[in-house]
Amino acid sequence: MTQSHAPALPAGCAAVIVAAGKGLRAGQPLPKQFALWRGKPVLRHAVEALGAAGVSPIAVAIPEGADALVSKMLGGIADIVLVTGGATRQESVARGLEALAAHDPHTVLIHDAARPDCPPDVIARLVAALAGHPGAIPVLPVVDSMVIAREGLMEADAKREQLRRVQTPQAFRYADILAAHRAWQGAPEAGDDAQVLRAHGGTVALVDGDERLAKLTFKEDFVDQQASALPPVRTG
Ligand code: CTP
Ligand code: MG
Repeated sequence: MTQSHAPALPAGCAAVIVAAGKGLRAGQPLPKQFALWRGKPVLRHAVEALGAAGVSPIAVAIPEGADALVSKMLGGIADIVLVTGGATRQESVARGLEALAAHDPHTVLIHDAARPDCPPDVIARLVAALAGHPGAIPVLPVVDSMVIAREGLMEADAKREQLRRVQTPQAFRYADILAAHRAWQGAPEAGDDAQVLRAHGGTVALVDGDERLAKLTFKEDFVDQQASALPPVRTG
């Protein structure tokens, strides 16, 4: 793994990458995080992106029985901790966090395996924001008008200016997010880890996200990837 262009990260920055979902909407022969995307498994892209930024170790939550497949996919990458994920994303995150306890990291990034590209400057912004808050998440503005829908009818308009699209990785002080996840157990499924932290009284800073963090979700996201992987045309 090359770390030559990575911004300096403080020591003790670990990650949990959740890769234990079924990827039903993507309709690939294997769960989407194991599908090939631009020549490599999606999961390998995600792990390499965090590793290149200096994040270590990386706990990867995977489906039961997928150890051999994943070990092969991640061959040659150091400091990986494999852990069996759970029935929900939240459970997979909780298991990943517990698996990092022996490493006692200061900071943890919680990231979806289905987001293959992670620009290092987003990680730098997230980690910098943790100086003032126990949590930080990357967000993007909403450009379309938003409405509240109910049974095929528009119920109300929503104030676009107040809304943000939330991405991963989300960054946390490790001790705080671990405590929040332990306290949440048994409660209903949370939307994301920032919600788990807030329910435990933690504040969450918003930093600029990046369109390149888009999550591969639908079948169409896996089409034409070779074409879009071509180098940009030089115009001058
Ligand atoms: N995930 C997980 N454990 C689960 C469910 C989801 O680790 N029990 C992970 C997925 O592997 C993915 C991330 O959480 O990297 C975001 O979830 P999503 O995009 O919804 O993926 P899936 O649940 O796998 O896809 P789908 O909802 O289409 O079935
Ligand atoms: Mg899902």
